[in-house]
Amino acid sequence: MDKFLIEGGIPLSGEVGISGAKNAALPCLAACLLTAEQVTLHRMPRVKDIRTMQSLLTHTGTEVVEEGASTVRVRAGRITSPEAPYEVVKTMRASSLVLGPLVGRAGRARVSMPGGCAIGARPINLHMTGLERLGAEIHQSHGYVEASAPNGLKGTHVHFDRITVTGTEDLMMAAVLAHGETVLENAAREPEVVDLAELLIKMGAKIQGVGTSRIQIEGVSSLHGAEHTIIPDRIEAGTFLIAGAITGGDVTVASCDKDHLSALIFKLQQTGCEITEPGVGKLRVRALGKLRSVDIKTEEHPGFATDLQAQFMALLTQAEGISFVTETIFENRFMHVLELVRMGANIRIEGRQAIVAGRTPLSSAQVICSDLRASASLVLAALVGEGITEVNRVYHMDRGYESFDLKLAGLGAKINRSH
Ligand code: EPU
Repeated sequence: MDKFLIEGGIPLSGEVGISGAKNAALPCLAACLLTAEQVTLHRMPRVKDIRTMQSLLTHTGTEVVEEGASTVRVRAGRITSPEAPYEVVKTMRASSLVLGPLVGRAGRARVSMPGGCAIGARPINLHMTGLERLGAEIHQSHGYVEASAPNGLKGTHVHFDRITVTGTEDLMMAAVLAHGETVLENAAREPEVVDLAELLIKMGAKIQGVGTSRIQIEGVSSLHGAEHTIIPDRIEAGTFLIAGAITGGDVTVASCDKDHLSALIFKLQQTGCEITEPGVGKLRVRALGKLRSVDIKTEEHPGFATDLQAQFMALLTQAEGISFVTETIFENRFMHVLELVRMGANIRIEGRQAIVAGRTPLSSAQVICSDLRASASLVLAALVGEGITEVNRVYHMDRGYESFDLKLAGLGAKINRSH
C-alpha cells in the first residue's frame, strides 16, 4: 500500500490547476447509460473512483474509451447486463447512481446494496422510495436491489425526507425517460447536480428548476448523444486553498469556480486570510499573520460542505482560540480527529460537535487515512507538522484527488510517495 512521507514547515507558494469534479463526473458517466448514442465528456479527473465507474459501465455492455489526458467517450449502444455487482459497489458507493438510468433505459436494474461506510450508515432508501413512486417494482434479496419497470416509469411527485445529492441525481436520471412530469421537492442544490442536469439537457432532457430545491422534469421518449465539460472540483480547490492558509503560504488555484466556494471563502476570511481573484477562474489565498478561531457547521449547498470539514479542522488546529465544528450531514465524520490528536492537536468530540483548541504545534507521527477527506486533512496537518509524517493508506486519496502529491510538490511541499 502506498504511503506519503511529508516534511512539514514549508509555506506553499505558486499556482495549481484544478481537475474536473469527481462528484460531477460520476453521475455524468452514469447518465451516458440513458442513450444509445455517443456521449463525450471532457475535463474528467483521472482518479480511481472514475476508473471504477468506467469499469462498471463496461460491465453493462457499454463502450468506454479514454482519449488524451482528460476526455472520455462513452457509447451505451445496447445494455447487455443492467447490473452493478457487489465487487464494484463495495469499493465505491456511488455505483448506486446507475440504478435510476438503468431502470429508465433498460426497464430493469440489479444493483448491490452498499454496506456501511467509514463516515456513516449512508443508506439508499430514498433512491428506492423515489423509484417506487416512479412506478418501479423494487425487491431486495441476497444483498441486491432489483428494480423493474417493463412498461416504463411514470412521472410523479417526490418529496425527499432529507436532502440527498446522489438520490436527487439518481431520480433525475430515472425521470428524464419517464412518461409525463416528475417533480422533485426538497432536492439537492449542489453544483454537481446542476452539472448533471446541464449534460442531460444537452442530451435532450427537459428539466427546469435545477439549482433550486424544486426540480421539474418532463419525460421524453429518448435522449441523444452530447458533448460536455465537467465543472472544476470545488473540494479539490478548497483543499488547496486551505493548504495555502495552513502553511502560511501564498497559493493560487486556477480553473476553479468561486461561486461554488463562497462558504469556504467567507470562513477563510474570518480566520484572517486574504482571498483575492488574480484572474478569471482564479483564487489566491494568503495567510496574513496569526490565524483566528472560527466556528463552522456543515450543511447542504450553499452551506459549508461536509467534504471540506476535515481539512478545515486541520487548519483550525493552527488558529488561536476555541473553534466549534458541527457536522450535520454524516453521523461519523470525525475519523480524522484522533489522528490529528496523535499529532498534537487539542480536539474534543461531543456528539456531532468537535471542539478545537488552538493553536497547538503539530509534530510528525505515523497516521492512517480512514476515508478520502480525512486523508486530505492528515496531509494538510503533516504540511505544518515538525519532522517527517508518514501518512498511510493513501489509496483513499487516490480515489478522489488527481495527483495530489505531485500538485503539492509543485507548490514547494516536500512530499514523497513510497510503496
Ligand atoms: N441519506 C439517507 N438515505 C438516502 C440517501 C442519503 O438517509 O437514501 C442520508 C445519508 O446517510 C447522509 C445524508 O442523507 O446522512 C446526505 O447524504 P447524500 O445522499 O447527500 O450523500 P451522497 O449522495 O451519498 C454525496 C457525495 C459525498 C458528499 C455527500 C454530501 C458523491 C458521489 N458523493 O454523497 O462525497 O459528502 O454527497 O455532500 O456525490 C466525497 O467525495 O468524499 C463524498 C463522501
